[in-house]
Amino acid sequence: ARLVVLVSGSGSNLQALLDAATDPAYGAQVVAVGADRDGIAGLDRAAAAGVPTFVDPVKAYETRDDWDAALTAHVSEHKPDLIISAGFLKLVGARFLAAFGDRYINTHNALLPSFPGIHGPRDALAYGVKLAGATLFFVDAGVDTGPIVAQVSVPVLDDDTEETLTERIKVAERAQLVDYVGRLVREGWTIENRKVRIP
Ligand code: GRF
Repeated sequence: ARLVVLVSGSGSNLQALLDAATDPAYGAQVVAVGADRDGIAGLDRAAAAGVPTFVDPVKAYETRDDWDAALTAHVSEHKPDLIISAGFLKLVGARFLAAFGDRYINTHNALLPSFPGIHGPRDALAYGVKLAGATLFFVDAGVDTGPIVAQVSVPVLDDDTEETLTERIKVAERAQLVDYVGRLVREGWTIENRKVRIP
């Protein structure tokens, strides 16, 4: 199966997928990596693995719609079976969702529907929850609202800082991402009434 991964930052989730895909039994390859900005480690990781990259900064386009169309076109060129937002910090538009809404997943560093948005671990810590974690879900038109594929929890410790909690979540998040992307591509999936099932 063909994976396109979208990144905006360090790309440690991308790296986990690149590493898993070196085993042919995994059933998927990262065929391209897209980003909304230059100069990020995620793009370096793709290049080091010999994976083609493309960069579509929102600011390079006159309107958000034009950006969405360009991103959709660039992703389409790689004929993905599954597209993975792995720390991609942009909300895609209607055109992208029309093209890929049934095969675009995102990994979020909180247990949705709690703590959506870009500060999941910080918000969880501030709230005082005792369990934090990560959620893998199919992206819909909302912010972190789509049908959930899987969730993994980690404890929040008394002496946690945003940094220590973020790192504990990321370790579990990467393992979950690799596990479930593999299952999805090898076994397929259905979504009915928000319920994702992997046969
Ligand atoms: C992940 O924890 C993701 O949930 C959050 O940003 C992080 C991306 O990390 N939105 P990386 O770029 O994969 O290292």
